[in-house]
Amino acid sequence: MQYDEQSNGLNGKRHRVRPAAIRVEQLTKNYYLGRTVVPALRGVNLEVKQGEFVALMGPSGSGKSTFMNLLGCLDRPTSGSYLLDGVPVSKMNSNQLADIRNQKIGFVFQSFNLLSWMTALENVELPLVYSSASRAERLRRAQQALSVVGLKSRARHRPAELSGGQQQRVAIARALVTSPSLFLADEPTGNLDSQTSTQIIAILQELNARGLTVVLVTHESDIASFAHRQVKFRDGRIVDDTGIMHWTPTTPPMAHQLNAGAVAERRSLAPTDEKQVTS
Ligand SMILES: Nc1ncnc2c1ncn2[C@@H]1O[C@H](COP(=O)(O)OP(=O)(O)OP(=O)(O)O)[C@@H](O)[C@H]1O
Ligand SMILES: [Mg+2]
Repeated sequence: MQYDEQSNGLNGKRHRVRPAAIRVEQLTKNYYLGRTVVPALRGVNLEVKQGEFVALMGPSGSGKSTFMNLLGCLDRPTSGSYLLDGVPVSKMNSNQLADIRNQKIGFVFQSFNLLSWMTALENVELPLVYSSASRAERLRRAQQALSVVGLKSRARHRPAELSGGQQQRVAIARALVTSPSLFLADEPTGNLDSQTSTQIIAILQELNARGLTVVLVTHESDIASFAHRQVKFRDGRIVDDTGIMHWTPTTPPMAHQLNAGAVAERRSLAPTDEKQVTS
């Protein structure tokens, strides 16, 4: 791991400081449709520190999902550099990217992407199937991840037997089961009503309060206001970045303050024996 900063501690010793969670420089991405080039990203620079909660906004087609797919190591840039936790990933091959994804990244999409024939528990266990963990260990971790999102009691339900918000919570549990350090969510509330959206954001806030770095795409400014920082895209570039300098842990509104009922409902699904856990 590369460390990009060093500092002198009070005792005068130099010690390592953790690198930024994300650092991208001059990132570009072109798509090719026959002989047509679609420049989806035109030189994006962004640094996200460990533990930040960042909302990406911008009009349709401005490059948000393209950028998230690069951050999530689902795709490679045309040019530019990307350091994830200090590790240069932009030149990695697809096997190396798959390893990095498993180790460090949890990704949630607008359309949940759960496998319909599997139970909630089996869906959550899926990312661990190719790991060295034993079956018992995989089950334990999948149950723990379902507890984090308050859904242990729905472990045997298939996606069709769950509400939209519950399906998204299963998708969040599946993204958490590998204990990622970076959580990416591309319009996770896009298919949900506002009360259910608030529940989902409350879960992301709680995870962030426990140290997880969160980057979220949303079209809704009230959802974005739960983040510490709002970054706006237009035509493949970042055109605005607010909240970065004056962020303190107390500044973002807490979802549970704005919609206590919704969180209470979620908590009622998460009795104390399945209370939030981190792993
Ligand atoms: N696979 C692809 N092949 C060709 N062009 C693509 C592809 N994916 C995206 N694009 C184009 O790249 C640009 C950015 O798309 P992207 O999906 O990143 O936008 P977005 O900001 O996420 O939009 P939305 O808010 O609608 O989800 C758009 O012009 C889109 O048409
Ligand atoms: Mg998109």
